[in-house]
Amino acid sequence: MPDRPVETVRAEKMAAGGDAIAHLADGRVVFVDGALPGEDVRVEVHSDKRDFARARVLDVLTPSHARVQPPCPELARGCGGCAWQHVEPTAQRSLKAEIVADALRRTAKLDAASVVDGGGVPPWAYRTTMRLAVGTDGRVGLRGAASHDVIALDACMVAHPALSALLPAVRVRGAKELTLRVSAATGEVTAMADRPGARITGLPPSALVGAEAVLHEDVLGARLRVSAGSFFQSGPAAAALLVGAVMHAAGERLTIDGPVLDAFGGVGLFAAALPLRDAVIVESSRSACADARVNVPEAEVVCTPFERWTPRPVEWAVVDPARAGLGRDAAAVLAAAGPRRVVLVSCDPVSLARDAVLLAAHGYSLRDSVVLDLFPHTPHVEVVSVFDRA
Ligand SMILES: C[S@@+](CC[C@H](N)C(=O)[O-])C[C@H]1O[C@@H](n2cnc3c(N)ncnc32)[C@H](O)[C@@H]1O
Repeated sequence: MPDRPVETVRAEKMAAGGDAIAHLADGRVVFVDGALPGEDVRVEVHSDKRDFARARVLDVLTPSHARVQPPCPELARGCGGCAWQHVEPTAQRSLKAEIVADALRRTAKLDAASVVDGGGVPPWAYRTTMRLAVGTDGRVGLRGAASHDVIALDACMVAHPALSALLPAVRVRGAKELTLRVSAATGEVTAMADRPGARITGLPPSALVGAEAVLHEDVLGARLRVSAGSFFQSGPAAAALLVGAVMHAAGERLTIDGPVLDAFGGVGLFAAALPLRDAVIVESSRSACADARVNVPEAEVVCTPFERWTPRPVEWAVVDPARAGLGRDAAAVLAAAGPRRVVLVSCDPVSLARDAVLLAAHGYSLRDSVVLDLFPHTPHVEVVSVFDRA
């Protein structure tokens, strides 16, 4: 194989996705894995395109004050689960806020958007759900940082201790992925493989297996049933932080009697934990809808893709789509329901910016965005934004 080009570059800022942006000597943008803004780094270019390149750090020549020694032994063995362990946790939050502000500037042309750091969950032991890859020996782990190999895990520092303790003993045959979840409130465990008929061993005897296995989690006093096949936030601390941010974003509208839309409502987290009198939850997963009916019996649960929901008038809406964001169709359905305020929860900075453009076309302007760190040590962002109808 020919030698890969090596250059020294200065990292300028972080990009969505977690790499640093720099420029090569020929003027092209290079996305550098492992560099931090302000650092001079010697990099190896491993992917060369006409307009941009990708590189990894060989040496850090001028380390940033935010750089720390990653503490996790599994990371040292090649685990790709935590791409930002070399960044001090408070600095991770500032970088995430800058990534969001940059996406709003570039994609939505919102140069003066108010973007603030809204805090984060404790940086370690926060995850109660892990989607794990299964190795050829049946052990579970995460994909490698620099390869697709499965790095079997003996422990995971970002996992809840009860979840981390399960990792070394579990074996899976006949599946490629295993989703393991524990309840921080009750100690219950569920496991779900991506193939029917998979054989899973090494779990505690009380663990429940399969998409319909349920556990119960507590969030701000609300007890929630969560089926293995349903979405849940990275853990109860993340769910509580998010509920608090949505409550703050709803502001004076929170206690208004009129109907409130909880779109992409999952197991009913917001409708259960917020003081809503008249909520309509729209959610497409059957599993999550069944949980929401148990968790928020007083709410109307409409089990359909949001894009196909027949809109009815609502006072305000909380909308929490998957990574791709709302998109054109869902934005039109939302606008047809006529909420005065939309609280948009986004887990991708670029889709937030695209949704801001779509909502603006329906008369909604962005008031502010609060960036939460629900996934410390990873570049994942969570943003709660307030849009008001003109
Ligand atoms: C990011 S999760 C948020 C769930 C919930 N708000 C929470 O915080 O727990 C997104 C949810 O949207 C659901 N979903 C995905 N696509 C959908 C669609 N087109 N229409 C309605 N719900 C959808 C998923 O099943 C998932 O429960």
